[in-house]
Amino acid sequence: MNLVLARECSNSCPYCFETTEREEKKQNFISMENIAKLAAWARDSELQYLSLLGGEPFLHPKLGDIVTMFRQVCPGTELRVLTGGVFNKSLLDNISPKDTGLIFNINEPGDYRNPKHFNKVINNVETAIRKGFLVLLGFNVWRLDFDVSFMPALAHRLGRANFRWTVASPQWDCPSNVVEPVNYKALADRCFAMLQEAAKLNIEATLDCPLPLCFFSESQLAWVRQYHAGTALRMGSCEPVLDVTPELEVIRCFALSKLARVKLTDFPNENEIWHWFLKNVDFQLLPQGCFPKCSECLHFEAGRCSGGCLALHECIIDMEAQTSASNLILSMQEAINTGKPELALEQYEKANYWSKIAVPKFAAAIAAFQLGKYEEAFRYASYAQDISTNPDLKQQISELMERIPRGKIKTGSSPISEKDFLKYVSIPQQIEEKEHSA
Ligand SMILES: C[S@@+](CC[C@H](N)C(=O)[O-])C[C@H]1O[C@@H](n2cnc3c(N)ncnc32)[C@H](O)[C@@H]1O
Repeated sequence: MNLVLARECSNSCPYCFETTEREEKKQNFISMENIAKLAAWARDSELQYLSLLGGEPFLHPKLGDIVTMFRQVCPGTELRVLTGGVFNKSLLDNISPKDTGLIFNINEPGDYRNPKHFNKVINNVETAIRKGFLVLLGFNVWRLDFDVSFMPALAHRLGRANFRWTVASPQWDCPSNVVEPVNYKALADRCFAMLQEAAKLNIEATLDCPLPLCFFSESQLAWVRQYHAGTALRMGSCEPVLDVTPELEVIRCFALSKLARVKLTDFPNENEIWHWFLKNVDFQLLPQGCFPKCSECLHFEAGRCSGGCLALHECIIDMEAQTSASNLILSMQEAINTGKPELALEQYEKANYWSKIAVPKFAAAIAAFQLGKYEEAFRYASYAQDISTNPDLKQQISELMERIPRGKIKTGSSPISEKDFLKYVSIPQQIEEKEHSA
């Protein structure tokens, strides 16, 4: 989870996906009162990681007090500060390397609005390293003609074993300064050249925002898996990031900040917020990928790939018409309640991977059970139980499984009695399952 300390920024990244948040003219700095609330929430919910960012977190006049408060109130939450590096170096004296790590997001010299800023950033990175901070360098690729040796050479010069990189994501429903998917083939070759430069220097690159699995060619991907496991492993599916604003509102990620937001304190823990966004944002955007070919891709169908950044799904998504998990549950329930289990099964089979979460799987098990398709009923019920985290749903699934006869498949035979049918029509509407890929 990430927390915005200051909306204002001293950096000038041409591709930044946080600018919509700044335009909203809301409060600039988070208050100490909200810091105290978040720290208590982090302690009570056993939050594992918190990244402090912005805008520019070093612009917050009380950064030192904020870090101290988190350390005192929720010592179990690991902290790191994400900075653009454009700040007065004396500010590093206000925080301790024992309390937080630092991730510096670094652009090529020509990409800073003020030409002096690049040297300032590098000076601050060096100072932080000398002071003993855990320092990670980050680089965002936002144009085709970037210098492929820039970040590998910088990481080498500064004695880093690795760096973090990604292809800059757009902002949903907003013009963005990033490379479009139609140019991904050429972009992938450039990124691959950067990774090769890094490997020559024995530097490993880890990926931040995931890329589609088809971004690299198969042979490139095989090489990447060997030299940059931290890039290969992050490719494919994208999950809610959870950025928290100074007002303690949560968004799925900056790229989707124009979509839903919720109040942090309405939820008991990070996991519940994560599920809320999965259901209300991801499931709404996932039915189609960023390429037309995604709809026929086995990786996309099986959930191994999200089809690129969800903010790229804008042009082809029809928010009204797409089949979400909730729609699937409702239509299957209607079919079962009106005595049409075949229809319920058909609806389930036609639905996309992202809609087939635990509740529709349970509904499919009920429908198959009613049709006497016991092997199918067991398989759906067992799968639903495996991916569900809802104890009530798990209990209902167990009850159904107890009634499924073992042994031979009895396709089309022994439909269950009216009494049994009524027992299993209560399909929960609530969607509280763990992710598909878990
Ligand atoms: C919005 S910045 C704010 C913190 C600080 N100003 C900085 O530059 O790191 C937080 C993170 O977002 C990343 N970021 C910014 N624009 C991005 C984009 N379009 N796509 C992916 N990551 C981006 C940066 O690399 C940084 O790690």
